[in-house]
Amino acid sequence: MRTVILKVNREEPEIDRIRAAAEIIRKGGLVAFPTETVYGLGADALNPEAVARIYTAKNRPPDNPIIVHVASRDEACRLTEEVPANARKLMDTFWPGPLTLVLKASGLVPRITTGGLDTVAVRMPGLKVTLALIAESGAPIAAPSANLAGRPSPTTAEHVRQDLDGRIDLILDAGPTKVGVESTVVDLTVDPPQILRPGGVPYEELKSTLDRVELHPVVLAEREIPLVQARSPGMKHRHYAPNAKVIVVEGRMDAIVTKVQELADQHRKTGKSVGILATGETESRYRADSVRSLGSRRDLASAAKNLFKLLREFDEDKVDIIVAEAVPPEGLGLAVMNRLRKASGFNIVRAD
Ligand code: TXA
Ligand code: MG
Repeated sequence: MRTVILKVNREEPEIDRIRAAAEIIRKGGLVAFPTETVYGLGADALNPEAVARIYTAKNRPPDNPIIVHVASRDEACRLTEEVPANARKLMDTFWPGPLTLVLKASGLVPRITTGGLDTVAVRMPGLKVTLALIAESGAPIAAPSANLAGRPSPTTAEHVRQDLDGRIDLILDAGPTKVGVESTVVDLTVDPPQILRPGGVPYEELKSTLDRVELHPVVLAEREIPLVQARSPGMKHRHYAPNAKVIVVEGRMDAIVTKVQELADQHRKTGKSVGILATGETESRYRADSVRSLGSRRDLASAAKNLFKLLREFDEDKVDIIVAEAVPPEGLGLAVMNRLRKASGFNIVRAD
């Protein structure tokens, strides 16, 4: 299969290009497209054969359900059995935007889309080009992140091409994504609602909107959570991992810098090539084969935006090991730490 790449303006999308992409979706094909968070790999969510192609193209385990993207609240309501008051409140506050709601699925949603669950994850994305694609397709669009399963999520069309060239019909290229980590996933089928995956909408903002909302224990897990406890199937699969082995160093700032350098030196002595994932404040203090910065520790939005891109760049540097500084788990930093800990396979070193 030849994969076509089509440039498109993210705020004023060219309608002929959107129609060409929508035509592919309507015929059951696969289109990678930008959202405000990461690039998604889309198919008609109501067409089981089309959704099956997503799993094949990504090598995605069949029990990992897919988020359904809608262009309106009404469309979300048709896909769900009921929309409780707190879900309505979240839609009104954060949609369109990087927030995914898990609700009871209506009979309209094929089981392959929900990975066999009786719930469905719905999200109305915040980018004009994405909303235009959904509207022109005339169907909700099922879309996981457009990477091969287990790889870091793509924040540019080039990342999508690296993973999926020859496996999908089209890539819509609207430049780098703004948020850089995926949407926050909130389960509203439990009381109180639970955050299954931290993401583009910070926990702090959800707490100020809902009376009660909790973090699922897996969000800041320091170990692999036993499968029986993993409510969101995505929790249990290896995720966000570059080819290199990742070590995360957590603790007090000064102790982190000393420990990161110590670990880097140790591994380089054994002949390994080592990359250090630093921050703006610390980057000049390190020596290694490759040192890359997430940006200032005071700007966790830039850390979120840069994380996946930097993990892929370390692979291009061909480092064997990445030693990564922890960032504060506040605001978007919570999503960054969740991804880093998962990327490391919970290889966490304490520096104190
Ligand atoms: O920002 C995003 O969310 C991106 C863009 C493309 O929208 N999408 C994305 O999809 O990150 P994906 O498939 O990579 O991650 C979806 C997560 C998975 O962890 C999955 O297990 C969970 O959402 N999920 C989907 N449906 C669910 C359901 N019914 N119940 C619980 N978790 C669900
Ligand atoms: Mg993903």
